Amino acid sequence: MTFSQQKRVYDLFTEEALLNPYPLYNQIRSLDPVYFSEDGGFWFLTRYKDVEAALNDPRLSSHLKVLHARQLQNLDISIITNFIKLMEHMLIDKDPPEHTRMRKIALQGFTINALESWRSIIQETTDSLLDRVQDKHSMDIVADLSTKLPSVIISKIFDVPEMDRQNFLQWGADIATFWGAPSGQDIEELARKADIGAISFTNLMKQIIAERKRLLGNDMISLLIAAFEQNEMNLEQLPSLCVNILNAGHVTTTDSIPNGLNLLLNHPEQLQKLKETPGLINSAVEEMFRLDPPVPVTFRVAKEDLTIGGKEISSGSVIALGIGAANHDPEKFELPEVFDITRSANEHLSFGKGLHFCLGAVLARMQLTICFNTLLRRMPNISFHPNKVAVPKRTSLAFKGFESFPVKF
Ligand code: HEM
Repeated sequence: MTFSQQKRVYDLFTEEALLNPYPLYNQIRSLDPVYFSEDGGFWFLTRYKDVEAALNDPRLSSHLKVLHARQLQNLDISIITNFIKLMEHMLIDKDPPEHTRMRKIALQGFTINALESWRSIIQETTDSLLDRVQDKHSMDIVADLSTKLPSVIISKIFDVPEMDRQNFLQWGADIATFWGAPSGQDIEELARKADIGAISFTNLMKQIIAERKRLLGNDMISLLIAAFEQNEMNLEQLPSLCVNILNAGHVTTTDSIPNGLNLLLNHPEQLQKLKETPGLINSAVEEMFRLDPPVPVTFRVAKEDLTIGGKEISSGSVIALGIGAANHDPEKFELPEVFDITRSANEHLSFGKGLHFCLGAVLARMQLTICFNTLLRRMPNISFHPNKVAVPKRTSLAFKGFESFPVKF
């Protein structure tokens, strides 16, 4: 075998690669763009055109049984029966025709009127979180702002009673932690917690649904009950949709805020431009989503044998769609490594594309624009903390964010 024929091996899981995967993604894209990772046990797509095509490809399934089965290893699944029941109707995990039916209903929780009514909730929540730290002149963006913001907002949008909010969020988090646990980790304890979380979350939702049914309001649960009933769908499936919305919207928003602020603080000229021209906020937020997305990878499973970029991929294979890698592809974006808050026609894939395009994209954009507008207006001198360092997350290929992000202002 000649040198050029030898298979190149890239380690996607080193600490360096998890912290800043883009140099490695660029290397893989230029040398072996449809790459099989032995360590991960999946194909990894790095070109924009391949990732975009895969997001629209009906031969690829979002039903990730293969992936979950691998993660479960030898776990006795009788300890997660409640978890499995709740996960059974997750929108993000479904293929047509079931996905089509459920998505039509889920969309009715995100009407234009509802979205507009949430604007004031987002503004008030952002202000009240910043009120708590304003006089301290320093904060941890993650603990004080970005973790709390989406939790309070989603609790208010669902109109979860105050006394139940902490449990609602904790159970959601226990479910998400197990769902996203990297394989190899000792997962039995996480599994048990997730199962308790699942039954408790389901019971709370059932109780709220029963109360709301008596008098529907304008909250998202009421909108979804009405949609379920109009479409004669079984309300037993509603808790699954609620946990999907809660968890899909939580970690993503929590991670987007420090990821975006990190870009701004590392590019003072762009930060200055945004302060001088606040009207650039929308394109600035899109550029943050493009350059450092909170979900750099999403997965699919091949339903049949297929060929991508000349590589033969057999039925049942797991395929990692490199959203972050695609967003840095020079074939698609001019000077892709440059953070340019005025970039236009920014067709990044950070919210996915096609059937599973992010249901919360408008809400996410609204949260990010209001959050950054408010932060820069109220704390115009915000900077990295001089004595504390930001700690990035380094656990997962699929989620990218920070554990903590100290700043002063
Ligand atoms: C903050 C930034 C966010 C990012 C970057 C993001 C990203 C994504 C991506 C990439 C997908 C598609 C996954 C796939 O095709 O495999 C997705 C789907 C989804 N997102 Fe988001 N998301 C964000 C915020 C939100 C919010 C705030 C909500 C709701 C409150 C939400 C709810 C959903 C739901 C329900 C789906 C599943 C849609 C379906 O399967 O039809 N997301 N999101």
